[in-house]
Amino acid sequence: MHNDVANAPMTARTTPAPNSTAGATRPAVAVAVIGTGARSVIAHHVPVARNGAAVVAAVDTGEVGRARARATFPDAVVYSSVDDLIAAGNIDAAVVTTPDHTHEDIAVALLEAGIAVYLEKPLAISLDGADRVLATAAETGTPLYVGHNFRHSGVVRTMRGIIERGEIGEVKAIWVRHFVGNGGDYYFKDWHADRSKTGTLLLQKASHDIDIVHYLASGYTRRVVGMGDLMIYGGITDRRERPGETMPDWFSYDNWPPAAQTGLNPVVDVEDVSMMLMTLDNGVQASYQQCHFTPDYWRNYTVIGSEGRLENFGDTSAGVVKVWNRRHEWQADGDIEYPIEGVTSGHADADLATMTEFLDSVLDGAPTVVSPVAAREAVAAGSLAAASLRSGSVPLDVPDLPQSVLDHFSSATPTKHSGRTPR
Ligand SMILES: NC(=O)c1ccc[n+]([C@@H]2O[C@H](COP(=O)([O-])OP(=O)(O)OC[C@H]3O[C@@H](n4cnc5c(N)ncnc54)[C@H](O)[C@@H]3O)[C@@H](O)[C@H]2O)c1
Repeated sequence: MHNDVANAPMTARTTPAPNSTAGATRPAVAVAVIGTGARSVIAHHVPVARNGAAVVAAVDTGEVGRARARATFPDAVVYSSVDDLIAAGNIDAAVVTTPDHTHEDIAVALLEAGIAVYLEKPLAISLDGADRVLATAAETGTPLYVGHNFRHSGVVRTMRGIIERGEIGEVKAIWVRHFVGNGGDYYFKDWHADRSKTGTLLLQKASHDIDIVHYLASGYTRRVVGMGDLMIYGGITDRRERPGETMPDWFSYDNWPPAAQTGLNPVVDVEDVSMMLMTLDNGVQASYQQCHFTPDYWRNYTVIGSEGRLENFGDTSAGVVKVWNRRHEWQADGDIEYPIEGVTSGHADADLATMTEFLDSVLDGAPTVVSPVAAREAVAAGSLAAASLRSGSVPLDVPDLPQSVLDHFSSATPTKHSGRTPR
């Protein structure tokens, strides 16, 4: 999958930064991190990902976030707004790790200021918002990268490799079950639970998987139907604000069973069970199910092709992807089995690969596996599925991107995973 930041390699500035800390030498690539909450840890990959790149600035609108920034990015100048960062100047690239509803405006401001953007997923919380960000990238020519790190995970690379080698024939159907065992802690104790901040967990959480369905199927969703409900967390009345806290402060495996959770966000109006059906532009049929109160936390993909089927068991190292491509009765062992490589928990390896890809694409014009157009298509499918489930499960069709925007993003370069024209 390409990312057309590749079209315009960027020349890093070499002048000293007026806003750098006293006595510090400006790095070859000056990076800002915006939103210094839980996810801002990915900015620590910047100097590892690229020689000469360094985090020189941090932005957070909250005092607690700014204090955290001073502690975790001691060499960075700390700002309280993106406007102040832009006004200070001399920033080459920004890593945006703010809540979802802020992505659109922050990305547009940075792109207009000529600052290359690494934007956390989801690209935006509405289809119009996603299209606005892509249109701004097209108009300004400023590099845009959306951090769909899951494409770089061992389990996805393994599944995609099996498909690319033709081991299950032509992909026809993809079924994804997503057991969000940590859902109560991850998504119902802060802004994630509030529709006005996330739209739907079919974006906040599922945008990864919708993107992977598209990646594995080499197609984009064109029709969706959704169903879902708020089944457990809506009934919990123990609610509170959590000023200054981030998720690691309240996460515990002892928070069980789900209905015994306490301290939920004052607003809880996203669904804790969501299901969607998708028809892709190449005829592939797909489904995605997400539940936020399972005891275990992992994703299970089944990909059925014209000549076989694959399924993952576990989605990190120690897990396995099994392939059945001979005819027989039920058989626990795959006809072929592939161990999943990478980390045993979380996704630090994929995060480093993603940051590396971002900086290499901005600075060298290197091709990328993630794509802003694909990120838009994930937002389109997820947001329309939520609209469908909230309006009696009516089927909804995904509109195409304007041709002028597609044209900007269309000079595809081969992906390093596949070497074929990307999707
Ligand atoms: N790709 C992944 O695997 C992955 C994993 C976790 C989170 N994320 C994404 O990272 C983003 C941040 O999530 P988080 O868990 O770190 O949230 P968080 O609540 O822990 O942190 C968000 C921070 O942004 C600050 N902030 C809010 N509005 C701001 C603004 N307008 N300008 C500057 N700062 C602002 C807040 O004060 C807070 O410090 C989300 O969009 C989420 O989807 C991605």
